[in-house]
Amino acid sequence: MVELKMIKDITVLDPQTIGLTVVLTTPACPLKNRIHDDIDAALAVLPGSPKAQIKWDSMVSRTGGIPNKQQVEGVRNIISVGAGKGGVGKSTCAVNVAIALSQLGARTGVLDADVYGPNVPILLGAEHEKPMAENEKIIPIQRYGIKMISLGFFIEPDKPAIWRGPMLSGAVRQFLFDVNWGELDYLVVDLPPGTGDVQLTMSQSIPMTGAVVVSTPQDVSTADVGRAIQMFNTLKVPNLGLIENMSYFLCPHCGERTEIFGHGGAKALAERMNIPFLGEIPLDHRIREGGGQGVPLMVSDPDSPLAQVYRDVASSLAAQVSVRNFKQASFIPLRTI
Ligand SMILES: Nc1ncnc2c1ncn2[C@@H]1O[C@H](COP(=O)(O)OP(=O)(O)OP(=O)(O)O)[C@@H](O)[C@H]1O
Ligand SMILES: [Mg+2]
Ligand SMILES: [Zn+2]
Repeated sequence: MVELKMIKDITVLDPQTIGLTVVLTTPACPLKNRIHDDIDAALAVLPGSPKAQIKWDSMVSRTGGIPNKQQVEGVRNIISVGAGKGGVGKSTCAVNVAIALSQLGARTGVLDADVYGPNVPILLGAEHEKPMAENEKIIPIQRYGIKMISLGFFIEPDKPAIWRGPMLSGAVRQFLFDVNWGELDYLVVDLPPGTGDVQLTMSQSIPMTGAVVVSTPQDVSTADVGRAIQMFNTLKVPNLGLIENMSYFLCPHCGERTEIFGHGGAKALAERMNIPFLGEIPLDHRIREGGGQGVPLMVSDPDSPLAQVYRDVASSLAAQVSVRNFKQASFIPLRTI
């Protein structure tokens, strides 16, 4: 950690306490406790066995430049959320995980690129907002600590939009480049389900950090999930992991856990396809109600065990982003100064 320059400002506060700052690659780091323990263990061998008093800081790594792809200014990482088919809870996951990242201290945005059902504004209780423009850039709507832009703001409700290839890629590009996102650590993109034009446009026009695939236990057994994962492989978009949504049911009365559609399918699939498994989100009426009322669970009940599940998923995801950027950076030869 010292060699990686992750430790700063070491000061002896008193003979029993060493103050130091640890700079992480994400504020959502899942290893904080372990790092604290390791530092205490390292200090324990010193005379008097002082304890560490740690200040946490972070510098979120950025997905590096990829030739022929235009960076989105100020946005360090673009994470797409996809699914093999519709209705698996992709948008609900995208929104709650984005809020979790923001609550953990990361500057986070959501881009709703689901042309067939752009419902992120509804999930965030912002469906009546109208984004403004300033200096020829669209200003994102801010809700619950995150910035958000949706195709839903620009099409008429209840009128299904017919999107053809060029129009579609134009719209998606506009949401990336003509929106004033400011400085963001993570931009979470809610993609349409399946494998189609938006996925293609996204992966071709910008350096995407990677993609997350959401599935339910019952559709793990179908070919759809595998196909979605394969598509990202084909498009050379790194697979950051698989989330199993509606994984199990916790009875609100007795707390008993019921695995309605079996257990472990998504995890096994992730292992088979050699991608990380990011976690299991239970089927819970509070998650659905939160979406319906425009107040996601992460906002209405941030201290619940259920919110902790989303935070764990968000931490695992942030860790995968760091790993991915680290691996990519190690392939870039260092320039001699
Ligand atoms: N873990 C969960 N527990 C209970 N209900 C959930 C859960 N996740 C999602 N839902 C509910 O399932 C429905 C579908 O979720 P959502 O709209 O997020 O799915 P989607 O995959 O984005 O769908 P679409 O393909 O239409 O975009 C919603 O009513 C949502 O509230
Ligand atoms: Mg959706
Ligand atoms: Zn019960």
